[in-house]
Amino acid sequence: MPTTPSAAFHSSRESPAPVTDLPSPTHHYSLGQRCRSLYHELGYRLSERVRWSRRPYHEVPVERLTDLASWQTALIDRLQARYEIRFESRYGQHTSLANYAYLDLLDQAWTSTGRTIPRSGLVTDVGCANFWYARTLHRFFRPATLTGVDVEGFRLYPTGYSRYDAAAGYIADLPHTSFAIANYCERNEQVDVITAWFPFVTPAPVLAWRLPLTVFSPERLFARIARNLAPGGTFVMVNQGTEEAAIAADYCRRVGLHSQGEWMHPRPLRPRPHPPVASWWTA
Ligand SMILES: C[S@@+](CC[C@H](N)C(=O)[O-])C[C@H]1O[C@@H](n2cnc3c(N)ncnc32)[C@H](O)[C@@H]1O
Repeated sequence: MPTTPSAAFHSSRESPAPVTDLPSPTHHYSLGQRCRSLYHELGYRLSERVRWSRRPYHEVPVERLTDLASWQTALIDRLQARYEIRFESRYGQHTSLANYAYLDLLDQAWTSTGRTIPRSGLVTDVGCANFWYARTLHRFFRPATLTGVDVEGFRLYPTGYSRYDAAAGYIADLPHTSFAIANYCERNEQVDVITAWFPFVTPAPVLAWRLPLTVFSPERLFARIARNLAPGGTFVMVNQGTEEAAIAADYCRRVGLHSQGEWMHPRPLRPRPHPPVASWWTA
C-alpha cells in the first residue's frame, strides 16, 4: 500500500545550515527596487506569520481540452499514451496544458539527448511554487520520494485558499510526496535528483513574483544544491531562454557543478517569450 502523502510544514529551522556555504555578495538595487522589495517583504512576512489554510484545494477537471492546434493535440495524445496520464481528468485547462508542457520538455530533452532517466531515487524540486506539476515529476522520475520545496508557503489566492492548500491538493494522491516550506539555502539533505524550473538568477523576476529581494541569493542557492546532491546525482535545471540559462550556468560552475549537457526546446507546447532551456549537472 502506498503511504499517504502529506503537505508537511518543514520549517527551515529544522535543518540549520552549517556556515560552509559561499558568502552572499551584496547585490546593488535601485531605490525603486528596494521600495518594492520592502512592500513585498511586508506581505510575505505577514502571510508566513498568519499561515492561512482552509483545506486541500482541488481543481475542477476540465475533462476535455479545447482550442488546441492539431500539432498540440497530436503531441498530447503521444504523451498520454507514453505516460498513461490524462491531466484534464484532474485539473482545469490551464494546469493540464502546463503539465503536458513540462512533461513534454522532460520527455523530449531526455529522449533527444539519449539519456537514461534517473528513476526510483530521492527527488527534490527547488522553488516548486504550489507544486502544480508534482504529478508530472512523479510520472517521469517514478521517485522513491518526491519533495517540493518553496520559501513561500502561504501566499493567499483570490479563491480564499493559500499556496499550502493548493499544494496539499496537488500532492493528495501521490505516494511518498510532500511539500516543504523552507528556504532551500538552509536545507540539509542528500538526494539523487534535484530539479529547478525557472529559478531566480536575476532580481527583476523576484519582484515580479511579489517576493522581497531578501530571498534572492543565487550564490547560496546553487551552493546548497551542489552540496545536497548525492554522489552520482543529477541536477536538472530549466531556464527561460539562452541568456538566463548562461547566467544560471555560471552560478553552477562557480559552485563546482559539472555540465552534462544542455538542450533548448524547439517548439514548446505552450508558447513562451523565451524558449525553455534544459541543462544537466553533476556534483
Ligand atoms: C520563477 S518561480 C518558479 C516556480 C515553479 N518552479 C514553476 O515552474 O512554476 C520561482 C520559485 O522559487 C521560489 N524560491 C525562490 N527562492 C527560493 C529559495 N531560496 N528556496 C525555496 N524556494 C525559493 C519562489 O518562491 C518561487 O515560487
